[in-house]
Amino acid sequence: MDLILFEAAKAARKNAYVPYSHFAVGAAVRAKDGRVFTGCNIENASYGLTVCAERNAIFAAVKEGVRDFETLLVTADTEGPVSPCGACRQVMAEFGISHIELTNLKGLSQCVSLEELLPYGFTLKEKE
Ligand code: THU
Repeated sequence: MDLILFEAAKAARKNAYVPYSHFAVGAAVRAKDGRVFTGCNIENASYGLTVCAERNAIFAAVKEGVRDFETLLVTADTEGPVSPCGACRQVMAEFGISHIELTNLKGLSQCVSLEELLPYGFTLKEKE
């Protein structure tokens, strides 16, 4: 368990805006340069506009010019480690986030690779 990312994700989770699902999620991602960026889920009355914690963390980094990442950690108040949705997996693939740590608030954790989370994922990389 990466305790720095875990604490950062738990702190971000406190700002989750979840009036509809009441399911708060926090995420923290470490860039290759060592900086840590965080995100929480932000919901909307137009439900489809909701953005997950993982994507908000990644986008917070990208808008600062960061594109090289080490590890992303996600946490929520779940029985077992929480697992990212498909849209977030696709965004992780876009930025080559290959190490992902799934956790819950109790401290259970499971490290997985992007390959495990998104086998046969869509990419245009080979066309560049
Ligand atoms: N959610 C996340 O933020 N990350 C996940 O990995 C799973 C789902 C959010 C979206 C929505 O606000 C709430 O959890 C319930 O789906």
